[in-house]
Amino acid sequence: MPDMTMAAGEGEPDPGVIRRCVCPGSYDPVTNGHLDVVHRAAELFDEVIVAILTNPAKPGTFTPAERIELLEACLDATPRVRIAEVSGALLVDFCRAVGAAAVVKGLRSGTDFAYELPMALMNRHLTGLETVFLPGDPRLEHVSSSLVKEVAALGGDVTGLVPDLVRDRLVQRRG
Ligand code: PNS
Repeated sequence: MPDMTMAAGEGEPDPGVIRRCVCPGSYDPVTNGHLDVVHRAAELFDEVIVAILTNPAKPGTFTPAERIELLEACLDATPRVRIAEVSGALLVDFCRAVGAAAVVKGLRSGTDFAYELPMALMNRHLTGLETVFLPGDPRLEHVSSSLVKEVAALGGDVTGLVPDLVRDRLVQRRG
């Protein structure tokens, strides 16, 4: 039997230290897969900052203001979660500015891992920023912002894949 005894206070978190993480992404638009990862990150960290990274050279489908509005509405009831827009800056610099201990990202598949690993290694190379990968909910493995947009634009039903508000906004865009 291993010795599992600990001195009083040892191994306990310092109550004065807030463990903060960042969930970065394009969120164009937010999906139920994104929300699952944010909710689970909020169980692991004291505070989650959902960072919408926008690239001025790639305008995307929804404007940054629309993406923020949708995220705010979808995460309104989730405590300890904040939303921020980051434009023209490195993720590592934003994380340092807000005092984040780690980035949290969801992985749906090996393809996601192949895409995410170089970024995680680069971020660690730049400032030592760590990335925590959470396995995506297998029920949402096929859900991506781009696929949801394509399906909705051609009249497909994306109920259950994105929040109803996002689905309705995609239907509106179809006109
Ligand atoms: O949702 P996405 O598009 O897969 O998210 C990718 C994102 C925005 C998290 C990534 O491109 C990023 O971190 N961009 C910010 C600029 C930066 O730091 N680039 C170097 C990444 S190693």
